[in-house]
Amino acid sequence: MKGVILAGGLATRLRPLTLVTNKHLLPIYNKPMIYYSIESMARAGIKEVLITSSPDHSGDFANLLKGGEDFGLKLFYAVQQNPKGGIANAIALAKEFAVDQKILVILGDNIFKTDLKSTVEQFEKKDKGALIYGVKISTDSQQYGVVEIDKQGKVLSIEEKPEHPKSNIAQTGIYMYDNRVFDFISRLTPSDRGELEVTDLNNFYLKEGTLTCELLQWWIDAGTSYDELLRANNLVAEKVKKNEL
Ligand code: G1P
Repeated sequence: MKGVILAGGLATRLRPLTLVTNKHLLPIYNKPMIYYSIESMARAGIKEVLITSSPDHSGDFANLLKGGEDFGLKLFYAVQQNPKGGIANAIALAKEFAVDQKILVILGDNIFKTDLKSTVEQFEKKDKGALIYGVKISTDSQQYGVVEIDKQGKVLSIEEKPEHPKSNIAQTGIYMYDNRVFDFISRLTPSDRGELEVTDLNNFYLKEGTLTCELLQWWIDAGTSYDELLRANNLVAEKVKKNEL
């Protein structure tokens, strides 16, 4: 299975912090934000990871991360020409890189601790399908994809930024896909906000009955606001000092 880390976008919500740099290079306590997703890939046993980023900053990623030697994996780079293309548009850049393999996708601003290794191993054995991670949240579910799950853990619906959320479970930025993902992406059309939505992509698998969802204990999307960026810094600092991260 190959890894894909998405580190593009304009990060307008974090301006002026992101006027001359990419948000995934901003610090989260003692490391640049992108380190956390690369380390998650390494812990999951992924050996080759593609980082997709914006044209202005892809050189900065290569300067910082080199070939991935420090993380124990191999890094490759791709440029997302259209920073507003959306998550699914960025995943499509991994088609040639993935060859015929399954992929683990992590959004580069997602901070979490859960070890993905055993789930990756189980997913690798599957014939087909996709897996997403959700997390229970107490507020602001309207700014995420919202996942509705029944008592057995079966996914009933996923809606992108719904006005009336059907649950308190947010779709995180961690996804596993079989290799048909690239075919499904080619069938997507842009949403009202002009993006190829990961939620629309996941709905292909949901309709087919091959989508599963696992829950994370804690997770932060450090790129959503100044407050979440600050919360990520404080939480990571606390966990590092307690040896929990
Ligand atoms: C994206 C996805 C959304 C998901 C979120 C997680 O939202 O579209 O479904 O819940 O990432 O970080 P965006 O960051 O594009 O608003």
